[in-house]
Amino acid sequence: MTEPDANRKYWDELAPGYQEQTSISTDDFHFGPLLPGNADLRLLPAPLAGLECLEIGCGAAQNSIYLAGCGAACMAIDVSPVQLGHAAGLARDAGVAVALQALAMEDLDQLQPRTFDFVHSTFALPFATDPQTVIAAAANLLKPGGHLLLTTAHPAFAGEWLELGDEGCGLFLSSYFDPPEDVRFTEDGTTFVRSCARPIGEMLDWLLAAGLVLDRLVEPQPLPVPTMSPAEISARVPYYSDAWRHCFDQVAHIPVVVIFAAHRSR
Ligand SMILES: C[S@@+](CC[C@H](N)C(=O)[O-])C[C@H]1O[C@@H](n2cnc3c(N)ncnc32)[C@H](O)[C@@H]1O
Repeated sequence: MTEPDANRKYWDELAPGYQEQTSISTDDFHFGPLLPGNADLRLLPAPLAGLECLEIGCGAAQNSIYLAGCGAACMAIDVSPVQLGHAAGLARDAGVAVALQALAMEDLDQLQPRTFDFVHSTFALPFATDPQTVIAAAANLLKPGGHLLLTTAHPAFAGEWLELGDEGCGLFLSSYFDPPEDVRFTEDGTTFVRSCARPIGEMLDWLLAAGLVLDRLVEPQPLPVPTMSPAEISARVPYYSDAWRHCFDQVAHIPVVVIFAAHRSR
């Protein structure tokens, strides 16, 4: 089985529980668990209305649905038809159109080059067979001057969070330059998928080699979720689950994601 096929099998199986247990807003653009959304971070290009957008590894496409609600024309791809089924239902509920397509990010070259004003992806790149090739293909889909917003796994978060008794808590990371993979199995144990963080400098080199210009590099801190009321969480934390809340100590000290905001020169 190829890696994209294994990812499809794994995510098809996981999707129903994942979408039920994770609260992902369509009223803001999210970057990751317990983190502020774009209403706070302000990383999206402006104005959004009329932009031709592509989301890579969209899951249930909450970010594309948010952008479509702001007047953007959105396409969203994912390897998992079950995730895309959730996306179709959410888009219908929100009353917006998002063009959904089952496509592996390894096959981005099937799309028309220089078509999009804005390409975005949130936590899908760690599942890529060859992330550098995905970045080059994504850059190739941008019109000159178009923007890429890439949110991916922070290499430091691949470490193990240890309770050290009197010493407090801390991170054990065997190698920053070759962070440990996260290996996950399907329920029948026959198929596994790997997700992998890469060093920030290496990923930045991939963006520059793809002809992109870096505008911002952000390592966002979480909102103070333990002190927030349910109403505040629902208003300001666009990606929330109790499972992540239990990791708040680690999330508050180590960035979960790194965000690259870049554009293609004219
Ligand atoms: C952690 S989820 C993130 C989903 C969405 N971006 C979000 O923020 O909610 C990772 C997504 O990547 C998709 N994915 C994994 N491997 C992929 C591949 N090779 N090509 C396209 N999508 C893939 C999965 O199906 C899943 O929906």
